[in-house]
Amino acid sequence: MFNKEVYIERRSKLKKEIAKGLALFVANNEASLNYPDNPYTYRQDSNFSYFFGLNHPDYVGIIDFESGEEILFGNEVTIDDVIWMGPQPSLSEQGARIGINQTKELKNLFDYLKKAKQQGRKIHFLPPYRGDIKIIYSEYLDIPIHSLSENASIELIRAVVKLREIKDDLEIAEIEKAIETAYFMHTTAMKMAKPGMIEQELTGVLEGISISGGGPVSFPVILSVDGQTLHNYNHHNVLTEGRMLVVDAGAQTSNYYASDITRTTPVGGKFNQRQKEIYEIVLAANMNVINNVGPNMEYFKMHTLACRTIIEGLNALGIMKGNVDEALNVGAHYLFMPHGLGHQMGLDVHDMESFGEDNVGYDEKTPRSKKMGFSGLRLGKTLKPGFVFTDEPGIYFIPKLIDIFHAEGKFKNFINYDKVITYKDFGGVRIEDNILITANGSRVLGRPIPKTAAEVEATCAAKREWIRMKDFL
Ligand code: GLY
Ligand code: MN
Ligand code: MN
Repeated sequence: MFNKEVYIERRSKLKKEIAKGLALFVANNEASLNYPDNPYTYRQDSNFSYFFGLNHPDYVGIIDFESGEEILFGNEVTIDDVIWMGPQPSLSEQGARIGINQTKELKNLFDYLKKAKQQGRKIHFLPPYRGDIKIIYSEYLDIPIHSLSENASIELIRAVVKLREIKDDLEIAEIEKAIETAYFMHTTAMKMAKPGMIEQELTGVLEGISISGGGPVSFPVILSVDGQTLHNYNHHNVLTEGRMLVVDAGAQTSNYYASDITRTTPVGGKFNQRQKEIYEIVLAANMNVINNVGPNMEYFKMHTLACRTIIEGLNALGIMKGNVDEALNVGAHYLFMPHGLGHQMGLDVHDMESFGEDNVGYDEKTPRSKKMGFSGLRLGKTLKPGFVFTDEPGIYFIPKLIDIFHAEGKFKNFINYDKVITYKDFGGVRIEDNILITANGSRVLGRPIPKTAAEVEATCAAKREWIRMKDFL
C-alpha cells in the first residue's frame, strides 16, 4: 500500500470531477476455485485499490460528491478471523490507513443506499465484471444483472479514466518494479530455451520468479513455439531447433501494478536466416514507434507506422508486393498482424478495459476505425504525458488464416501467396515493450531487456544463475 495521502488525494481529485450523487465501489471478494474455502489467489478490484488501497475482501467504499463524505463499510474482525488468519486491524484502523475516519458495519449499507435512492440521488458505479460482484451490485442497487452495464455511470467512467490514465511517479516506479521482475522472467526464458525442454517447464519457472518478485503474473503466461496463436496458453510443446519461442509475460507488484513484455527467442539460441529476416522487421516496427512516439499524437498513427514498417519489410522479402500505401489502406497487413499495436497499462495489464475498450482507448476526437487491420487497435486516441502503454508489433504465419485468404484470393495484389505458403511452419514473432509518454517525448520503461538479435543470442548463451529478487526490487 502507498501512504494514506495518496488515496486521500485520489478521492479528492475524483470529487472535483463529479458534482452530484454518490459513488459506490465494491471490493472484490475471495473467489472460490473448487469448493468454498479453497480460493483463487486474492486480487483486489483495481478501482477499489486505486481509491481505497486496502487489499481486503468484503469492503465497500462510498464517496458522496455533494457532502464530500467518505465511508468505508465492512465487517468487524471476529475471533474466527484471528484464529485462521492471525491478528487483523480493526475496521476503523483500516479506515485510518487510507485517511477515512467514517467506518460502518456492512449490514448498514442496504439502509444507507435505500435512503439515497428514496432521496432521488444518483448512485454512480463502474461496470462490474465478476459474477459474484455483479450479484452484489444488483442487490444493492435493485438493478437486474443483465442491465448493470448499461446502467453504469458514464460520468464516473470518464472521471476515473481521466485520473487513472495519467500515471504519477509512484505508479511509474511500481510499473518499473514489475518490469524488473519481467527482466528476470524473460532473460531466464531465453537461457532455458533449449531443444528438448517442455514449454511448461519454462512457464513454471517464470511464474515462480514473478511470485518471488512480490506478486503473481499479471496475466496467464503466453509461452509457445506456436507463437502464431496470439494468446497461446497451452504449454505442452517440446522445444525443437528451428522454432521460435514467443514469451509474452509480465509480473504484478504487491500493489497490483503490471508489466507486459514480449520477447521472441530462437530455440537453441541462434537465429537462422529466415528467422532473422522476420525478426528484424518486427524489431524495426517496435523501434520506429519508440523513436517517433510522443505527447499530443494519436496512437493510431503509431499503429499505422508499425503496420507500414511490416508491409515494407515483407515487400522486401517478396512475401508481400505492390504499392505500400495501397496495401496499408486496404489492411493487407492483417494477414500477418491481426492485432493492434498496444493498449494502456497500469493497475490492469489492459488498463481499465472493464469499462469497455472504447471508453479507455478512444474518445470523441478519435473514434475507433472499422477497417480491417485497424479496428483491433485497443488504444487509438491522443497520448498525454503520464500515459503508459505497450508497443507490441508482431508478424505471424497462421496456417488456417493463410489458407482462407489464399482460397478467397484476398489481397491478392499485395500478398505473394506462393511465398507465404512456404512460411506456414514458421510460427510467429512479437516484441513488446512498455512506454511512458513524457512532457517532451517518451521513455521505454524499466531496465532494457535483451532485444536485438545479437543481445538475445548472447543471453541464450549465458549461464542461468540463482537469483535473489530482494537484491533487485
Ligand atoms: N498480455 C497480452 C498482451 O500483450 O496484450
Ligand atoms: Mn503482452
Ligand atoms: Mn500487451
